[in-house]
Amino acid sequence: MHRHTIIEPFRIKSVEAIKFTTREEREAALREAGYNVFRLHAEDVLIDLLTDSGTGAMSAAQWGALMQGDESYAGSRSYYRFRDVVAELTGFRHIIPTHQGRAAERILFHTVLKSGDIVPNNNHFDTTRANIEVEEAEALDLVIAEGRVPSVVHPFKGNVDLAALERLLDERGDRVPLVMVTVTNNSGGGQPVSMENLKGVRALCDRYRKPFFLDACRFAENAYFVKRREPGYSAMTPKQIAQAMFALADGCTLSAKKDGLANIGGFLALNDDRWAERCRNLLILTEGFPTYGGLAGYDLEAIARGLEEVVEEPYLRYRLRSTEYLGEKLAAAGVPIIQPPGGHAIYLDARGLLPQVPPLQYPGIALANALYVEAGVRGVEIGTVMFGLHPDGHEAPGPMDLVRLAIPRRVYTQSHIDYVAEAAIEVARHRDRLRGYRITAAPKVLRHFTAEFEPL
Ligand code: F0G
Repeated sequence: MHRHTIIEPFRIKSVEAIKFTTREEREAALREAGYNVFRLHAEDVLIDLLTDSGTGAMSAAQWGALMQGDESYAGSRSYYRFRDVVAELTGFRHIIPTHQGRAAERILFHTVLKSGDIVPNNNHFDTTRANIEVEEAEALDLVIAEGRVPSVVHPFKGNVDLAALERLLDERGDRVPLVMVTVTNNSGGGQPVSMENLKGVRALCDRYRKPFFLDACRFAENAYFVKRREPGYSAMTPKQIAQAMFALADGCTLSAKKDGLANIGGFLALNDDRWAERCRNLLILTEGFPTYGGLAGYDLEAIARGLEEVVEEPYLRYRLRSTEYLGEKLAAAGVPIIQPPGGHAIYLDARGLLPQVPPLQYPGIALANALYVEAGVRGVEIGTVMFGLHPDGHEAPGPMDLVRLAIPRRVYTQSHIDYVAEAAIEVARHRDRLRGYRITAAPKVLRHFTAEFEPL
């Protein structure tokens, strides 16, 4: 029987209270935090949409699996369980656990990059970009033109511009040690990449003999978008689509804090024996022995179980629908967002909403801060503060100025989301009152995490 309402496919067994604050308390907390929501005490946040990373709710089965954790230093049973699940899903030969996604990135890039190299991607996320730039290599974004314009609707806005990739490989291929694609494309709006596009990347990598790596944090959400939107995939299960996706690549980095449904963890997986050996040696130096890589045995158990649950169709249907539901409410009220809604988050177009705030006065910060003061909702700027400062020290507007409302997995109910929509619509109604900010203190790398601001 068809029902319009797609309900949360779980019932709640354990709850955590959230704290209500007054507007005055929030104004004081934000001032104290240097007007950077990263610096707030999380307790002072009512609904926390800062990130979907590590903030999900684990299932009863995952909590049960924790107790099965084998904490042996070497050869833990939990490692083999984790390895078997990852191997069955991805098909990669070498599976190297890490404490989170960026550790996998650092180990891969430090092993294979040299100064002057170029790593193309649809859009690099902040840590990926920073881990490439720290090796004095260039992180190049090659998303399709549609992926750069918030209002343009396209079913696979995360696709790579294959003509641009071909041109890069043709003209400067000697400087490209690997090609990456991020599924879904987080910095571009949580937008999916089609199988056809991934096959196109594979064909170019074959022609120019380059390894192809996925940044696969949100592989299950991407697989479900493919099932819903790409001709030829509707009869396959999300897991089969994910397996077909991984089969096109030579390796991946993955943060298990997203589609691993775990609070911590990640891995690097790859087929190349020589690269794998060098990566393992670096892992031992900085993360841990190759059968735990900085994780506890119980973390490996939680991730193994999470990777099984995340490809279940009722979960993915609810996941994508609940994000879309928030997007529909905001769009219906005229709030500009990246269209269509992404998998894990809704991205408010702060540059579009606040034309009176130029990019170098950080419209994303203005909007994120207003949303916190209005309703205790915490989002995050993805814009000029995050991407505007370049390695040579010059500052320029980021590709877009967005505020991401990332939805933790299995944490909030529909009434929480209704409240968020109400709050964002209220802030948008008073858009004329919002003013920009200036930075008073910031580090040179990944400045968005700790920068301090002053209202103009
Ligand atoms: N790649 C992508 C596409 C990501 O979104 C992230 C993290 C990482 C890599 C790094 O993984 O955090 O486990 O080290 N994104 C989080 C976010 C932090 O809020 O989107 P990590």
